Amino acid sequence: MSLIDLRSDTVTMPTPEMRRAMADAEVGDDVFGEDPTVRALEERAAELLGKEAGLFVASGSMGNLVSQLAHLARGQETIAGADSHMVVHEAAGHAVIVGTSVRQLRERPDGTLDLRDVAEAFRDPDDPHNPVTGLVEIENTHSDSMAQPLSADYTAAIAAVAHERGVPLHVDGARFFNAVVAFGIAPAALAGPADSVTFCLSKGLSCPVGSVVVGSREFIWRAHRARKLVGGGMRQAGVIAAPGLVALRDGPSGMIERLAEDHANARRLAEGLADLDGIESPGGIAQPTEGRLDPERARTNFVLFKVRGDRMAFLARLRERGILMIDYPHGQIRAVTHHGIDEADVDAAMRAARDALRESGIAPRRRTPVPAGGD
Ligand SMILES: Cc1ncc(COP(=O)(O)O)c(C=O)c1O
Repeated sequence: MSLIDLRSDTVTMPTPEMRRAMADAEVGDDVFGEDPTVRALEERAAELLGKEAGLFVASGSMGNLVSQLAHLARGQETIAGADSHMVVHEAAGHAVIVGTSVRQLRERPDGTLDLRDVAEAFRDPDDPHNPVTGLVEIENTHSDSMAQPLSADYTAAIAAVAHERGVPLHVDGARFFNAVVAFGIAPAALAGPADSVTFCLSKGLSCPVGSVVVGSREFIWRAHRARKLVGGGMRQAGVIAAPGLVALRDGPSGMIERLAEDHANARRLAEGLADLDGIESPGGIAQPTEGRLDPERARTNFVLFKVRGDRMAFLARLRERGILMIDYPHGQIRAVTHHGIDEADVDAAMRAARDALRESGIAPRRRTPVPAGGD
């Protein structure tokens, strides 16, 4: 049975062109700064996001980590969303490795932080009892709000709050290009107000591994040093950087433009699921009101929802039908669309969800059998 894997966009496979690029990549020792493919990728990323320089790192978590190490001194504090990846899902690297605290603010249903809360969260630098606020961080797209894209206006507004107080803004842009495509904006315009951005190649862009951090030349110099500190200096890394150059091409030969298909498929899935008896709106901050799943909230490539009943039984029934979704915090289920998932897969997932709801006793069983052929 072939699987339709909607657990994450991290399950995407490198395209045949990426594999060819890997095989043919010109390489050198990147710790000596001699890998031309890594350098080309870093330059392309910086150019695209309108920054002076870039740094290839092993993962999104490493990108966030080296950015924090480059921006912050030990004992300082970051202002960030309580449900952000950096706070919840990076093994407390901010505390363990960077040696900093996080002042956590509750995100709103659109994934943003209230700017008044941000302004108030700054510590008094003259009070020796306080840590010194050294960084503001946002996540774009914001996963726990159902991957809402954060606008350039919002990014500029929060950057202004930070900059007025002499503090930089870092964007965890693991799915930055999903936000770019959702707004139909130039990457440099969305990245413009931020001092640093990390984006992942290994998610919707389909590369097998890697992320890139971009920022000023001086910031990247410090991030480079931090990468060495955390053991992230790689040697002939051009082999894994090469797919990134394929992904970041302009137009249909790259992987950015096509993210629009993933967004359309997520919307289609949300619309289909919303009509099923037993599917409910997500929990957490993903939807402000209880009740029916609102498909309009599928603005990029995530669908979050709850089922009225045992979600683990529902997920198990789905798996029996070859559909993989994943258990998500706050009693939710997540489905993510990505390269390799088409409309027919989405429709198959909806039919499987309808059957799984009935079989796990969540939706009432129909008296008449489902007509054969439609499934
Ligand atoms: C919002 C966000 N930031 C950062 C990361 C970390 O990326 P990686 O798994 O490459 O460390 C993820 C991973 O899923 C993510 O969703």
